[in-house]
Amino acid sequence: RGKRAFIAGVADDNGYGWAIAKALAAAGAEILVGTWVPALNIFENSLRRGKFDESRTLPDGSLMEISKVYPLDAVYDTLEEVPEDVKTNKRYAGSSNWTVKEVAESVKNDFGTIDILVHSLANGPEVTKPLLETSRKGYLTAISASSYSYVSLLKHFLPIMNPGGASISLTYIASERTIPGYGGGMSSAKAALESDTRVLAFEAGRAGKIRVNTISAGPLGSRAAKAIGFIEKMINYSYTNGPMQKELAADEVGATAAFLVSPLASAVTGSVVYVDNGLNTMAWHP
Ligand code: NAI
Repeated sequence: RGKRAFIAGVADDNGYGWAIAKALAAAGAEILVGTWVPALNIFENSLRRGKFDESRTLPDGSLMEISKVYPLDAVYDTLEEVPEDVKTNKRYAGSSNWTVKEVAESVKNDFGTIDILVHSLANGPEVTKPLLETSRKGYLTAISASSYSYVSLLKHFLPIMNPGGASISLTYIASERTIPGYGGGMSSAKAALESDTRVLAFEAGRAGKIRVNTISAGPLGSRAAKAIGFIEKMINYSYTNGPMQKELAADEVGATAAFLVSPLASAVTGSVVYVDNGLNTMAWHP
C-alpha cells in the first residue's frame, strides 16, 4: 500500500508545502492538504481552472493529484473556542469543520489513517516589527499560529497515524542566530518549534513509533516570506555568502522532506536538518 500524507499549509504553488507535496507525490504517496480558510476559495478555483497544471507536473510527466483539500485554521483546536466574530466572518462562514480537531476527524472519516504529517505554515502579524516593539498580542499570535499549531496538529493526528510514520515541520535559522528584521516574535516561535521537535520526537516516538524532525530551510520567495519585506535581500545574501553560491529551489527542500519521512531516515528523529546550501555553517563572510 502507498503512503498517505496530510500537508498543512498549502495555498498556492510557490511555497515549501507545495514542493513537499510534489516530492511526496513523485515518491508514490497519496496527497491530502490543509489550506488556510481565507485562502481556500482562490486555491481551489486555481486548481480547478488548471492554473497549477504546469507546476503540478511530476518527473514522470503525470500531474500531481490532491485527493482532498481540507479547510484549516490551525489557530483553533476545537469549534467551541472559535470566537463569534470569526464564525460569522464572511470568509469563514462558507466553510465548516476547519478547526484542527475537526480536520483530523474528517480525515479519519474519509481515509481512516495517514502515514505522514507535514506542518508548513507560519503567521506573525507583527513580523516586520523589532522584538522590542512587538506587542504581547502579536507575539502570542506568532507562537500560536507558528508553534502551538504544530503541537496541536500532531496531537490530533497522532491517533490516526500508522506506526512507522513520520512528521516534519519547517523552521528558520533566526531561531538560533539573530536575523534583524525577522521580528514580531517569529524568531521566538521558531525557537519554540525546534525545541518542541525534540520533545515531540520523544513523546510521539514512545506513543506511536512516529518520528518527528524539522527542516531549517534557506530563504525562498514564497507568499509568506514576501510579507517579511526583505526576502530578495536574504536570497541574495545567501547566494553570495553560502558555500555553494547557488540559488535554493523549493524542490530541494521537498526532496529532503521526502527522505526524512521515508524509511531511508528510519533512525533520524528529533533533529533540525539544514537545507540552506550550507549558509548556517558560515561564521564570517569573506
Ligand atoms: P507559504 O506562504 O507557502 O506557506 C505558509 C502557509 O501558511 C500559507 O499557505 C498560509 O495560508 C498558511 N497559514 C497561515 N496561517 C495559517 C493558519 N492559522 N492556519 C492554517 N494555515 C495558515 O510560505 P512558506 O515560506 O513556504 O512557509 C512554509 C513554512 O516554511 C513556514 O513554516 C515558514 O516559516 C517556513 N520557512 C520559510 C522560509 C522562506 O524563506 N520562505 C525559510 C525557512 C522556513
